[in-house]
Amino acid sequence: MKRRAFIALSISAAAWLLNGCGTNGNPDNGNNGTNAGGGSEIGTTSAPLPIPQLFKGEVRNGVRHFDLSIDKAAHSFFSGVATATYAVNSTYLGPTLLLTNGEEVSINYTNNIGEETTMHGHGMHLPAIMDGGPHQMIDPGKTWSARYRVSQKACTNWYHPHLMGKTAEHVYKGLAGLIIVQDDESRALDLPDRYGEDDIPLVLQDRRFDSDGQILYAPTRMEIMRGYIGDTYITNGAIDPFIELEAKEIRLRILNGSNASVYKLGFDDGRRFHQIATDNAFLEAPVALTRLRLSPGERAEIVVDLSGDKGKTLLLKDYRRGKTFLELRVTKDAVTQTTLPATLTNLTRFDPQNARNTRTFRLSGMMGRLLINGVEMNMNVINERVPLDQVEIWEVHNNMGIEHNFHIHATHFMVLERNGSVANVAENEKGYKDVIYLAPHDTLRVIVKMVDYKDANNPYMYHCHFLEHEDAGMMGQFVVV
Ligand code: C2O
Ligand code: CU
Ligand code: CU
Repeated sequence: MKRRAFIALSISAAAWLLNGCGTNGNPDNGNNGTNAGGGSEIGTTSAPLPIPQLFKGEVRNGVRHFDLSIDKAAHSFFSGVATATYAVNSTYLGPTLLLTNGEEVSINYTNNIGEETTMHGHGMHLPAIMDGGPHQMIDPGKTWSARYRVSQKACTNWYHPHLMGKTAEHVYKGLAGLIIVQDDESRALDLPDRYGEDDIPLVLQDRRFDSDGQILYAPTRMEIMRGYIGDTYITNGAIDPFIELEAKEIRLRILNGSNASVYKLGFDDGRRFHQIATDNAFLEAPVALTRLRLSPGERAEIVVDLSGDKGKTLLLKDYRRGKTFLELRVTKDAVTQTTLPATLTNLTRFDPQNARNTRTFRLSGMMGRLLINGVEMNMNVINERVPLDQVEIWEVHNNMGIEHNFHIHATHFMVLERNGSVANVAENEKGYKDVIYLAPHDTLRVIVKMVDYKDANNPYMYHCHFLEHEDAGMMGQFVVV
């Protein structure tokens, strides 16, 4: 396939004025910026890492409102190229919502994309009708509000569409954003918390682009099975970005926002870092790691110490595919200091002895469809009725030779065993989780309790968070009764 070569320019108005040079296809000048990797011949620039706006909303009548517009947009992934996207108050992705535990919020999504979508608060503990799942459809031109009182520990969550059969495509086009939940505990801990300075949000994704620099989403049947994997890595919507940082402890709030890629993250000098939070809360104590596996939908907060590194550059990479997400340039003196606390929080653990029920979920596939317990997602079928306040064991079996993960809405869970033994549960999996990875043929036992929001009519979802799998049927519904 013949691809156009675009001249790489620094991101500036000039790039836009010169839009069209690329179509001249001068092969000598093409692709002279930092390469995007992955064989893309479209020129990219090494651009500063975009930091999504930290959106604090606005208090009206005692409720904190976040007015968000889901739009069609154009985003500059490649210099001089306008790529058609979907976005929230932005040109790609959306702002980071700052929520405080205990506060009543109303997240108001207005759908301006001209087709139905939904917007789910992934990781949020909220009533099922506020969940933004497949049943809370937002018609074109309409506004839908997720209104609830924030009632959970500090963590990094996210929002994304959850439209039946089209979640993958809508996320792929750019609809996603982070939610930071803060509480008294998170504010009191001696952790980096200057957003965009030493507390850096990172939405990690990979994408395919066509020869015109447009997002290409067209999975084949095989790619639905394997997951739709892109050759271009993007971080907060930028290819090959860098960030200039202070020589101090830096906190990275990482979301695997990809459709179906499992990343194995680490730094190119192999340095140790500490994971401080899993999906839904801080870990009780920091966990030292050199590599971090993160599957689609999972979050991890890490702290990396750059104190002695002024003048150095390091790379945050995915070691599964050897590709770079971010260049960290340590160019500045520390403005503040932090010292990683030895303990972070206390987590509530349920005793498996007190479990009153065990549910089994078998992930399988047949004829291009993906199933849980032999059936595919049906909007009209409630698969599980879960009593309020009952401690339960959920056993998840991956009956396939491919990777999956498992996500439960409404609350977090904790992992008891992987493949029959607690010894197989990694230290950094021993926190509050809402997505958990399953290697081919893995079995997991997790312990969970629904603590609020009884509603026999409105279901929550559980599903594989590989979005092609979810869309191909690997999802089910439960109500809390
Ligand atoms: Cu992140 Cu049911 O989703
Ligand atoms: Cu979710
Ligand atoms: Cu899957």
